[in-house]
Amino acid sequence: MAPQGVARSGSRARGAFVSLALAALASVALVIGCSSSSSTSPSGGIPSGTPVIAMATVAATGNLLETNTYTSDFTSAIPAGNVIRLVVAFKQSDGSLDIAPAGAIKVAWSGPPVVVNTDGSPDAGDPIPATGSTPTSFWLQNDPSIPSSLYHYSNDELNGVLFITDPGASGGGTIDIAASVTGGVTTQLTASLTISAVPAGSATHGAQVYSAQCAVCHGPTGGGIDGGAVGINAAAGNVASDPTWSAGLVGSVVRGDIDNQGVLLDPAMPEWLELPLTSQDFIDAYTWLQTQSQ
Ligand code: HEC
Repeated sequence: MAPQGVARSGSRARGAFVSLALAALASVALVIGCSSSSSTSPSGGIPSGTPVIAMATVAATGNLLETNTYTSDFTSAIPAGNVIRLVVAFKQSDGSLDIAPAGAIKVAWSGPPVVVNTDGSPDAGDPIPATGSTPTSFWLQNDPSIPSSLYHYSNDELNGVLFITDPGASGGGTIDIAASVTGGVTTQLTASLTISAVPAGSATHGAQVYSAQCAVCHGPTGGGIDGGAVGINAAAGNVASDPTWSAGLVGSVVRGDIDNQGVLLDPAMPEWLELPLTSQDFIDAYTWLQTQSQ
């Protein structure tokens, strides 16, 4: 697939937010906690069933932001260095998951910190959370003082998207997530995500990913192109030789179109959450870039 460097505009807008109108009708069931078996009554197009936290599952094949395949089974460990998208779904008696129409419910996610991207100005600081003994992750939002034409994703698209940057010093652990649901349904949900180590990268596969997806802008060996994008290989000062970068950051934050200090990347950098490359592909490309210094 050819790289797609042009920021798209058409599909950016999301459906109008109708939650205010629905909130007036919101005298429906109050369900506390993921383990509750209470069902909600359908209202305003909201499916019946038990609200649960669910995760989009088609990251390997396409658009993470628009997939409609989900699972609420969090028993498998999620490798650090990944980006996942969480939603509130409605579980049916046969175990299937239904999704509320756009705007019918409002979900505020908490647990991990929220990173607000920056424009890279010297006083903007570095919002990316430091790693520690337990897994590190964050939600991402756009700085409202940055012109929205520079955003890669809207805040609605980023809602529920979790960037898992590091497994923690012991190579794994859990991340506790909470969702506060309002609108047509009011409920609080929680989930505990098991995180495993950042997977090892394959330089062989990374060379293929790099030449097909990155070389046109960053140069054949990642050394950068004058008038194009910066060098990202292992030459001095570039990403792959910079100890403040890691495979976990490349696999997660770069797909969110920010750098390791939360700086919004130039819009020419493709919108990777919507393209069929996985975090593993990014980790592989980084592994190969670490072998290139020209
Ligand atoms: C259409 C052009 C384009 C393509 C394709 C592209 N990039 Fe970028 N990339 C950019 C631009 C523009 C920037 C912003 C930095 C700059 O001014 O060069 C950037 C920035 C980055 C940065 C941050 C650099 C830093 O110093 O902080 C990384 C890492 C990166 N790209 C990795 C990749 C990888 C990996 C691929 C392929 C999977 C890729 N890019 C494909 C244009 C592109």
